[in-house]
Amino acid sequence: MKKRENWTSNVGFILAAAGSAIGLGNIWRFPYVTGTNGGAAFLLIFLAAIIFIGFPVIVAEISLGRNTAKNPVGAFKKIAPDTPWWVVGGLGVFTGFLILSYYSVVAGWSMSYIFKAINGFTPGTDFATLFGSHISGFGVPLFWHAAFMLITVLVIRAGVVGGIQKVAKTLMPVLFLILITLVIRAVTLPGAGEGLSFYLKPDFSKISIQTFTDAIAQAFFTLSLGMGAMITYGSYLSKDDNISDNAVYIIGFDTLIAVLAGLAIFPAVFALGFSPSAGPGLVFITLPGVLAEMPLGSFFGFLFFLLLSISALTSAISLLEVVVSYVVDEKGWERKKAAQIIGFIIFIVGIPPILGYSSLSGFSFLGMDVLDTYDWFANNIFLPLGGLLTSIFAAYVWKAKNMMKEANSAPGKITLGKGYEFLLKYIAPAGILIIMAFNIWTTFVG
Ligand code: TRP
Repeated sequence: MKKRENWTSNVGFILAAAGSAIGLGNIWRFPYVTGTNGGAAFLLIFLAAIIFIGFPVIVAEISLGRNTAKNPVGAFKKIAPDTPWWVVGGLGVFTGFLILSYYSVVAGWSMSYIFKAINGFTPGTDFATLFGSHISGFGVPLFWHAAFMLITVLVIRAGVVGGIQKVAKTLMPVLFLILITLVIRAVTLPGAGEGLSFYLKPDFSKISIQTFTDAIAQAFFTLSLGMGAMITYGSYLSKDDNISDNAVYIIGFDTLIAVLAGLAIFPAVFALGFSPSAGPGLVFITLPGVLAEMPLGSFFGFLFFLLLSISALTSAISLLEVVVSYVVDEKGWERKKAAQIIGFIIFIVGIPPILGYSSLSGFSFLGMDVLDTYDWFANNIFLPLGGLLTSIFAAYVWKAKNMMKEANSAPGKITLGKGYEFLLKYIAPAGILIIMAFNIWTTFVG
């Protein structure tokens, strides 16, 4: 049997995992959720969610992967053979499949906006209409969805070291430089202060139960938790690396990039007198409008959509790798063939979300279009369920002490002890359960 690939360095792993974590969730979702949830007040709650729920779960996932050196399904099977626990891994593989299908559609919009920026954002354009007509087309969004999936497949075909690690090592520094450039431009605009205070001034009157559940949900999505992505990446980690230290780096980079993204967006939005609107509109409608009014705006727009597309790519490869590692380990497929076939099927599954803005526009699930429906099931049901079952599994089936032995096996700055055990056994499962219950309740009942 071929020996399992390992990241060639600790840095390789950290960048690949940070690349998975840093994505549309940081650059598009985090700034918006923070802005409307009380700014710095939300940031504090988010940091608490990251530390008390995100940290225990990410360490558990990486440990599960490294201990077993397996894909999510294989990992559960190896620790609890002849039990149905492998279904949790199976749920993760399925969720990866589902998320990537629409994540790629949105990433495709972002790629096409790179070219719209190159052609120039013209002042006075109605960007809402432009965006509407872009997504309600068929050929153009389909083309970019296909292009994005193709690139993702090519990276995964090239393997863990030659593909994933190489892309992360090359693109993560580029991503950081672009973002810093955009932040400097935004905060030096005349009138940027109002945006900064909207984004960062704590407004405790906006805090409600919803704020807490938003913070936990954001922590989960942004750290790529609940579907085995970190199990899979952990399975390629060498025994000499300390898991908790690595987790702190991944979390630190992810949070830094999210906060910086807000600093790049809000000062510009306010400086040019736009309003911080909700949802995809902020990035695809408001921002081009802002850029059209700015000197060199099209150039900064080009940088922004390049940044967004790069962040999406390094996340997408982690989603595809989960599914590919499963069929390679468990079904004995060859990696290249697996990447191509699975990538193609995911491409097909992504077509209904595109059609949801045109011929399937009659579709509605609780008032949501196809893309939002995929997203709703993934974020409100499958990811929290996966995370809940994974933390229960690590704490009570594998047992917290065995899991912690794996995490502590290589010397590092952090040694997990009783405090961690408490978070993993009680706080993380309880926190996740509360957001699931709350989300289902608010959607179906109140
Ligand atoms: N974390 C990514 C983001 O913030 C999205 C993502 C990639 C993800 N892989 C994942 C989310 C696995 C959940 C599970 O955009």
